[in-house]
Amino acid sequence: MKESKDKIVKLGIIGLGWRTEVLLVSLFAIDAVEISAICDLSDKAVAKIKSIFLKSGRPIPAAFNNYNDLLQKNDIDAVLIPTSWNSHLPIAAAAMKAGKYTAIEVGGASSTEELWQLVHASEGTGAHCMMLENCCYARNELMILNMARQGLFGELIHCCGGYEHDLRDELIPRMKEGFERTFHNKYRNCDLYPTHQLGPIAKILNINRGNRFLSLVSMASKSRGLGLYVKDHSGRESQESEIAFNKGDVVTTIIKCAGGETITLTHSVSLPRPYSRNGRVQGTRGIWLEDVDGIHIEGISSSTKEFDVSGNPYTVHHWDTVQSFYDKYDHPIWRDYKDNIVGGHGGMDCLALMAFIDAVRHKIAPPIDVYDCAAWMSVTCLSEQSIALGSMPVAVPDFTNGKWIKRESVPINKWSLTNVYKD
Ligand SMILES: NC(=O)c1ccc[n+]([C@@H]2O[C@H](COP(=O)([O-])OP(=O)(O)OC[C@H]3O[C@@H](n4cnc5c(N)ncnc54)[C@H](O)[C@@H]3O)[C@@H](O)[C@H]2O)c1
Repeated sequence: MKESKDKIVKLGIIGLGWRTEVLLVSLFAIDAVEISAICDLSDKAVAKIKSIFLKSGRPIPAAFNNYNDLLQKNDIDAVLIPTSWNSHLPIAAAAMKAGKYTAIEVGGASSTEELWQLVHASEGTGAHCMMLENCCYARNELMILNMARQGLFGELIHCCGGYEHDLRDELIPRMKEGFERTFHNKYRNCDLYPTHQLGPIAKILNINRGNRFLSLVSMASKSRGLGLYVKDHSGRESQESEIAFNKGDVVTTIIKCAGGETITLTHSVSLPRPYSRNGRVQGTRGIWLEDVDGIHIEGISSSTKEFDVSGNPYTVHHWDTVQSFYDKYDHPIWRDYKDNIVGGHGGMDCLALMAFIDAVRHKIAPPIDVYDCAAWMSVTCLSEQSIALGSMPVAVPDFTNGKWIKRESVPINKWSLTNVYKD
């Protein structure tokens, strides 16, 4: 991760919670970055991050409580905004208006209006906004992109994704400190966190580049998981046990794309289950299915003839393991990186940050742009509308205003999520 010293990116970070602590591990490993300013509303959060700099022997960045003061610093090239879901979009719009390369963390939008404001801020200033959707840089997701681009799955027909993560242990204990995500679960009913698997799928399906999301329908199950967890942990007689959570335990959304493909998304954070992003990419020649850790490609994977009790033959198609494809189809980014992994979430955090920093250094469009941010995050507020309307179909706005039909080409760059480049 050594880079030439003449292109060091001066970075400001707005929002200094848990996520920033994790991101710092990766940022400290990237030579091309100097963190020159930090900002949080809370003095306690600022002090904690300062102590991490002190411990690591790095110079302490300039600290602010008001993000507008940080944005006024002319020596900052780029800003990272890991605040939470209610604040990161307006701050990102302000950052672009201040002329900064901007990166936001993942999450969903509360309204299409705030997404249009994001798009207009980028179009009006020419500044870029990237979502740090780390899952786009996960090893398996990148390999599936590589295989899709080589045509192994044939013509793509249907994809699935999800955020299936038992967060009861985080959402409930942190409710007392005002943890914003808990309150979204309490008051809203929708897919609150769509981008972890939708991001990689959208890239595979060329969304905003020849394809787009047309409409969606969403349905929510009843809500029991968080309420039950509160009762189990605070005693059935306590006042807290009366708290009602609006969000259904399993929210299912189906998106229809202009290219004819369908995408099913599942959001489930309040029931016991091991983590899964529920990935599935299926085409006329093959399928990847995350939950069985399997790939089946016609003509490559095996099929056997078996016989039913009456002696009639039928074909059984077998899964190959995902790992058995690494040798031939690992994405070029992971060929070296797998032996040199840095930072959180199995190394994908660091890759997403490196992709952003590379775009800033070379003054090019980032691999996940403002139109991707808007389309992916819109699933949250649109699924909310669909559920509120009894699962009516809801149109997804075309945030590109028709540009999706014929977009400018992407930079030839190893971090591209549109094409696969070797270097
Ligand atoms: N990509 C991933 O794998 C991943 C993992 C965890 C969290 N996240 C995302 O990271 C973001 C932050 O998560 P977190 O758990 O650190 O949240 P958090 O609530 O713990 O921290 C957010 C911080 O932002 C600060 N903040 C809020 N509004 C502000 C403002 N106007 N100006 C300055 N500071 C402000 C808060 O004081 C707080 O310290 C969320 O969007 C979350 O979805 C991503």
